[in-house]
Amino acid sequence: MKPLFPVKDWPCTVIFNEACGQALKRLRVKPRHGNFQCAPGQFVMLDLPTSGFHFRRPFSVLSVQEDGSFDLYYKRVGRGTQLMWKLGSGETLNILGPLGNCFETPASPEKTLLIGGGIGIAPLYHWGLVQQTLGNEPGSCFYGVRSASEIGLEDALKQLFGDQFYLATDDGSAGAHGNVCDLLMTQPDRVKHAEQAYVCGPTRMMEAVVQLLHKMNPHLQMRVSLEEHMPCGTGACTGCVVQRTDQALPSKVCAEGPVFDARSIRWNTHLPTESSCQEVPSCPS
Ligand code: FES
Repeated sequence: MKPLFPVKDWPCTVIFNEACGQALKRLRVKPRHGNFQCAPGQFVMLDLPTSGFHFRRPFSVLSVQEDGSFDLYYKRVGRGTQLMWKLGSGETLNILGPLGNCFETPASPEKTLLIGGGIGIAPLYHWGLVQQTLGNEPGSCFYGVRSASEIGLEDALKQLFGDQFYLATDDGSAGAHGNVCDLLMTQPDRVKHAEQAYVCGPTRMMEAVVQLLHKMNPHLQMRVSLEEHMPCGTGACTGCVVQRTDQALPSKVCAEGPVFDARSIRWNTHLPTESSCQEVPSCPS
């Protein structure tokens, strides 16, 4: 695959690393030389400034600023993100990227459903920002998190998507009470008239969303950004493979994705056919 933008190892300086929710932070870095560019859906591999880790960590890009700086949105979940959490303004780190393919701009961007769970909202937000820059309507955003403390980017999302921003929390502490599938079912006309859906979040959530959307609008084009464990991020190992429905060989998510046609992925549960799809699946956000 031809890179969309030049892939480089960027020595970067931390501009800020600010908390925006429970165990959530937005990290802004600026390359020391040149301007970083990437398309929405692409990712970077972050090299923590310590010898304690053998592998870099993959992160979707949340936004790219005009001055070439860019933002990552992350959750503190393990040792690596615990170290990231402590990064302060002026500290340095190396970031490889941009890597992978992207969410494209379709003929009718306003007829796009953007469906995110947790920190999976990052590439979808980036896609919306790019549409805004192009003068396009950025579609409708459906966002599911566990509770109000995990929304993180609420103001930014509301500002970008306006009244096309729909929020659900599992515990009902903000937005609609329920998961992102429940949320989609409150807007059947919007789903029915959509032409494409871009989905990113935990695998079980994406699988449930894809099944539901297939039932609600069988002609919908669905693209998912897979969040696999990625030891190298460059196709050099085989640590990120997924099985496909349209080919015998599995795909490396880092090299052929992370964005795939949802129907080409062999999910744990097969996509239902129209006639066999009677039940709406439950959906963790
Ligand atoms: Fe190594 Fe994808 S992470 S091949």
